[in-house]
Amino acid sequence: PAERTLVLVKPDALRRGLLGEILGRFERKGLVLEALELRTMDAELADAHYAEHVDKAFYPPLKDFMTGGPLVAAVLSGDEVISVVRTLVGATDGRKAAAGTIRGDLSLSNRENLVHASDSADSAKRELALWFPSL
Ligand code: CMP
Repeated sequence: PAERTLVLVKPDALRRGLLGEILGRFERKGLVLEALELRTMDAELADAHYAEHVDKAFYPPLKDFMTGGPLVAAVLSGDEVISVVRTLVGATDGRKAAAGTIRGDLSLSNRENLVHASDSADSAKRELALWFPSL
């Protein structure tokens, strides 16, 4: 079976009306949508999803941001989809992300950076189980 990854189109993207723009980039690349849901992250899911960041100084405002409005959770599949999606998304800080990437073209922030994407096979497995336990 093709590799799978978790993508979250974050609340800033929905507030800014960028959902179609962002999903369109994944579609045009040729990736396959396996699941797509409008969700709101609650505190427990935030703490589990960001387990490696809960003790960091940037976590409280990140948690407020991520739980502060609806987001879109998606499962994408395709050849080497984990690294392909990371390349399309760009570096964490939108001010430094390369032009041509989602963050490089559309974000000026290192918190409100529009998209989360699993960063490895292990994190994809863990995050898919958290967000889409029935898949
Ligand atoms: P994400 O890919 O969802 O993984 C962790 C998130 O924390 C990251 O995107 C940003 O939204 C946020 N983040 C990472 N580093 C910082 C930072 N230095 N300051 C603020 N937010 C950050």
